[in-house]
Amino acid sequence: MRTLRVIGIGTGNPEHLTLQAVRALADVDAVFALDKGAEKADLLALRRAICAEHIRKPYRFVAAEDPARDRRPADYGGTVEAWHAARAELLEGLIRDNLGAGEVGAFLVWGDPSLYDSTLRILERIRARSTLPFACTVVPGITSVQALTAAHQILLNRIGAEVLITTGRNLADGVLVADSTVVMLDGDPAFDHLDPELTIYWGAYLGSPDEILLSGRLGTVGPEIRRLRAEARTRHGWIMDTYLLRRP
Ligand SMILES: C[S@@+](CC[C@H](N)C(=O)[O-])C[C@H]1O[C@@H](n2cnc3c(N)ncnc32)[C@H](O)[C@@H]1O
Repeated sequence: MRTLRVIGIGTGNPEHLTLQAVRALADVDAVFALDKGAEKADLLALRRAICAEHIRKPYRFVAAEDPARDRRPADYGGTVEAWHAARAELLEGLIRDNLGAGEVGAFLVWGDPSLYDSTLRILERIRARSTLPFACTVVPGITSVQALTAAHQILLNRIGAEVLITTGRNLADGVLVADSTVVMLDGDPAFDHLDPELTIYWGAYLGSPDEILLSGRLGTVGPEIRRLRAEARTRHGWIMDTYLLRRP
């Protein structure tokens, strides 16, 4: 039986790796990576460095091109479904071809595997087809939400109050903000129509040496966040940012 370990690696700081993750990496035979977009080279480089430092035996690094996907589809659900099917097909082939029976493979997942990441969903799909049996374990990682709150030295929630974690797409579509709302996957900040009295805690490249932080009244710092974001994206060729909105 093949074994797969889905390991959360944190969000850009090699020291985000937990001791559990370090142990889980030590004896793997193959590492699988699916990356996409302009950030691909930088994120792959960090994964390769983590492997070089923590895997204690000869191993194979298997990187593959992520299937292409329409970023602004008319039918969002249907497009994501087709994309996941294509990724499952690709990954099943990669695992079969690169991991022998009795060997251990690892997926190094950005942040934590439970948060806006499709690795577990895709492995579930592969398992459901029953054509490639495998055992699976999951090692939690530090999420970008935790990296954001730690960087700003704040709590995620206020006393007894709720937290909503959502996407820029949902916010743009009019999702109501909760007492504390974390927004991820926001390619074009969707906060302009919101109450300017909200407090925003924003962070980009969290955990990495390029980390940028800004916080304050949304109506005051919002335009500056847009400017910093555009500038950083031009400089790096890509950006990953997350923000927390707090009701006044
Ligand atoms: C596909 S999701 C992956 C989330 C990841 N599994 C986690 O636990 O944080 C990618 C989104 O996570 C956020 N993100 C990931 N890494 C980040 C970082 N280093 N700094 C800021 N935001 C980050 C951004 O909102 C980005 O659009």
